Amino acid sequence: MGSYGTMSKPVIKVAALCGSLRKASFNGGLIRAAIELSKEQITGLHVEFIDTSSLPMLNTDLEDNGRFPAEVEEFRQKILEADCCFFASPDYNYSVTPLLKNALDWGSRPPNVWAGKAAAVVSACGGGGRAQYHLRQIGVFLDLHFINKPEYYLNAFQPPVKFNGDGDLIDSDARERLKQVLLSLQAFTLRIQGKS
Ligand SMILES: Cc1cc2nc3c(=O)[nH]c(=O)nc-3n(C[C@H](O)[C@H](O)[C@H](O)COP(=O)(O)O)c2cc1C
Repeated sequence: MGSYGTMSKPVIKVAALCGSLRKASFNGGLIRAAIELSKEQITGLHVEFIDTSSLPMLNTDLEDNGRFPAEVEEFRQKILEADCCFFASPDYNYSVTPLLKNALDWGSRPPNVWAGKAAAVVSACGGGGRAQYHLRQIGVFLDLHFINKPEYYLNAFQPPVKFNGDGDLIDSDARERLKQVLLSLQAFTLRIQGKS
């Protein structure tokens, strides 16, 4: 659970996970924008990027009497310490990417570190964001509670230009809509933690 900020407003810790490894990933850009927005415009929300790129591919042979490889232990601890999760997930063939699924699966090994947390999913991709529905379905078994609104699908390839060459989100309307997702996630997290 997060610490307490000014005026006794709890600081909500958000674990942000990206489905893409690409350096100039648009979804990585959504996470960087979420970090900036939470710092500059939202009181009581702390978004931290959780790097999943060094997690080994899931293999239960790597488990030893309930202990996991060091990278996995560290990752699981970060999720446990977070109040909620923020996923930026592209579509890979209408589903979530292997990177994201691998992280979800490692976190699901008993004891499931996702259980009871609020979550939000956003996507920047070419099409309809169908991966979001697969992620919500996975979330049923992981006991993640996704906000329903606002939905956030950003067509990265449609004009006007949304991202610069580094993958930074530069479109002001898209940034404002992203802020509304974060505010909704914050409110829902407080609600399910019984603090609002
Ligand atoms: C293996 C693969 C499968 C993809 N499948 C889809 C898809 O089903 N729907 C879609 O809209 N875009 C699809 N794309 C395009 C990605 O959404 C696009 O490359 C996006 O920019 C990836 O996110 P990133 O910028 O964060 O890396 C696919 C890309 C790859 C590499």
